[in-house]
Amino acid sequence: MPPWSGLAEVWRLERLDATARRFLLAGRTASTSFDASPTICACFGVKSQAILSAIADGARSTEAIGAQLNAGTNCGSCLPELRRMIAAARAPQKAKADLPA
Ligand code: FES
Repeated sequence: MPPWSGLAEVWRLERLDATARRFLLAGRTASTSFDASPTICACFGVKSQAILSAIADGARSTEAIGAQLNAGTNCGSCLPELRRMIAAARAPQKAKADLPA
């Protein structure tokens, strides 16, 4: 359930558009940024966009991503995807098209 201030924000809207409806159903407020990118690390709910941002900010190993976002630090099943995303960032022309949005 979003905090009361978030619900009040939604009730003030004349109509709920698709984005506002998704925020409400997801229990979030529309004022928070909604990351619709695919979830890469299911254990910690870490999305592709957050991982790509971490890589762009200098995280160039699974350990660095784990330290920053916790991704890859539990069951490890997302580690191959993290490695692929890091490799794609190192060779952007070759594999950028393969990255999840
Ligand atoms: S899915 Fe990422 S650590 Fe389990």
